[in-house]
Amino acid sequence: MSSEITVFGSINMDLVVYSAKEPQKGETVIGSSFETFQGGKGANQAVAISRLGVPVSFVGKVGNDVFGNELLDALKKEAVDISAVQRSSEDSGTAFINVFEETSQNQIIVILGANALVNSDQVTEETLISSKILIAQLETPSGETEKLFKRSKKFDCYRILNTAPVHNLSNSLMDESDLLIMNETELATLSGESPSGQLTSTVLIKSLEKIALTSSQSVIVTLGSQGVFVYENKIGTLIPGLDVLPVDTTGSGDCFVGALAAQYLAHGNLVDAAYFANKAAALSVTKKGASASMPFLEEVVNFI
Ligand code: RIB
Repeated sequence: MSSEITVFGSINMDLVVYSAKEPQKGETVIGSSFETFQGGKGANQAVAISRLGVPVSFVGKVGNDVFGNELLDALKKEAVDISAVQRSSEDSGTAFINVFEETSQNQIIVILGANALVNSDQVTEETLISSKILIAQLETPSGETEKLFKRSKKFDCYRILNTAPVHNLSNSLMDESDLLIMNETELATLSGESPSGQLTSTVLIKSLEKIALTSSQSVIVTLGSQGVFVYENKIGTLIPGLDVLPVDTTGSGDCFVGALAAQYLAHGNLVDAAYFANKAAALSVTKKGASASMPFLEEVVNFI
């Protein structure tokens, strides 16, 4: 493998039910459709990068099952390097997703399966030598991510941790990350306070200061339709959201992470990369599915 970006993370078969509205507790509603998509936060991020024309390697695990075959075929078609993906005796990861058409919001339950057995040893020294950027999320064991981030330090990799879904996140893993990308809910969990009212730079910085970070670490908070907040060298930049007609928001955070990494690799400017990724993520919500909704470079470049 000789990609400059490596994504260490999860891959799932997404089982998606679309319905007009969200059922109340105990209520049955008639859905509109059922579809399956290739998903998983790690795999979605790898597809986002590949569609932007940047070679990328994905490292993860799938089961010895039909879903595993389909998931790997899908990544191959997307030109993602999967040579370090391993098969596991556990079933492939699955995600049960409800998308509500009236609001375009979703609910997701993930069964980790093979993702829970992903191991940092799957990433070879050769991969770390070629990787300028390493990305991880929290659907694979956080202890393995921490080992990998520690190992990669001497190879000068820029380590991006997407804190989704926020669980089992140790302070030591946060310390090993150069950039943390989180959404508003994850920021509330990590800072112990829910920013309320207008999300101004002052409000967001107050929450971010509750998370013990060093001055060399940067944070990006994705704010859905409200845009993105970049916090670097103690300077906050609020990037406004873009006006699009949302169809399905699944994977938009992954699109942001992938697009940001691709653009940061090319130009090394975090704020510029966040402007670009904000556009890519806005485009992704206009299509159904997670990986399936990732935009191609031309679409992002020509957007607005
Ligand atoms: O971020 C969206 C992803 O979360 C879905 O593709 C699903 O598989 C879960 O990992």
